[in-house]
Amino acid sequence: MNLSTTNTQKRVLSGMRPTGKLHLGNYMGALSNWVSLQSEYACFFFIADFHALTTDYADPSQIQTSIADVAMDFLAAGLDPEKSTIFVQSDVPQHAELHLLLSMITPLSWLERVPTYKDQIEQLKEKDLNTYGFLGYPLLQSADILLYRPDFVPVGQDQVAHVEITREIARRFNFLYSPKAEKYDGPPADYKGKFLEHILPEPKVLVTASPKLPGTDGRKMSKSYGNTIMLTEPEADVRKKLKTMVTDPARIRRTDPGNPEVCPVGDLHKVFSSDETRLKVWEGCTTAGIGCIECKGWAADGIVSVLNPIQERRRQYEANPQLVQDILAAGAAQARTSAEATMTQVRQAMRLK
Ligand code: TRP
Ligand code: SF4
Repeated sequence: MNLSTTNTQKRVLSGMRPTGKLHLGNYMGALSNWVSLQSEYACFFFIADFHALTTDYADPSQIQTSIADVAMDFLAAGLDPEKSTIFVQSDVPQHAELHLLLSMITPLSWLERVPTYKDQIEQLKEKDLNTYGFLGYPLLQSADILLYRPDFVPVGQDQVAHVEITREIARRFNFLYSPKAEKYDGPPADYKGKFLEHILPEPKVLVTASPKLPGTDGRKMSKSYGNTIMLTEPEADVRKKLKTMVTDPARIRRTDPGNPEVCPVGDLHKVFSSDETRLKVWEGCTTAGIGCIECKGWAADGIVSVLNPIQERRRQYEANPQLVQDILAAGAAQARTSAEATMTQVRQAMRLK
């Protein structure tokens, strides 16, 4: 955290599971937003390796490589260790301790009714997710969040339910353990029975608007579809992938007009191109004035201009791998200090000290 960070600056926290090298969808849907938040907030960003084990416990062989890949992508994308605390979850054992303590007060029914729980068990049929750890996934996430007392948690729509349960757990914890005025000597009469402070303040969700980002086959860009453009994708490969990308099926011949509104390349232009280029595309496509190859070249230009600075930064970190290790170690030390301040109060509140 940078020294100019004041105590009044609001805090943001978010995490990402170590899924391996990140693609443009991960960047546009989360990471680019984290990068912008850094200028306004005191930020904590971490790699959720404990969470990876909730689904991949049977084969943890990829975890370390995935952590290294994600850490590199974080830094390449522009997360700045001078501005943000960047760390790996398991380097901060307080996450596990708070998870355990919160588990004491969490009704099973709260976890069972989280919508992602049954969905994921259904979707990941090849894995046996009938485990205690998987049921506790949202509670571990609650511990991740509450440890740092953030004001805001930026997440995608799919994670909103997890922030909601975090707020419910904070409320229950504070109801059970936060000091009330009546326990103190001489508070003003009208303070009686009110909370003096909340040990675990309720964070607010900051839903990240994620643009529709198609992969090369026209479906949503996703690792599981194999249709991604990676943050490390060389320019020549970006251009090659764009050339094979599906377009408006109505444009069979060069002379057939098309509609960028129904073309995945049109969706790319909405995200990556200037107003001027978009105008050229909408005009040219609907009148058959331009060809798809030309249009795809412009979309590739837009993507390449986003990837270039990311790849440039990556080269600097790759030239100095020790630096990445040092950044994560320093981030973990800062995170432990913050987390320990919360745990001191939590342990006292639960009469463990
Ligand atoms: N569950 C989140 C996801 O899959 C990752 C995550 C873990 C997280 N702990 C967090 C996100 C705490 C925000 C805050 O994307
Ligand atoms: Fe799609 Fe562009 Fe071809 Fe129109 S010109 S169909 S927007 S690729």
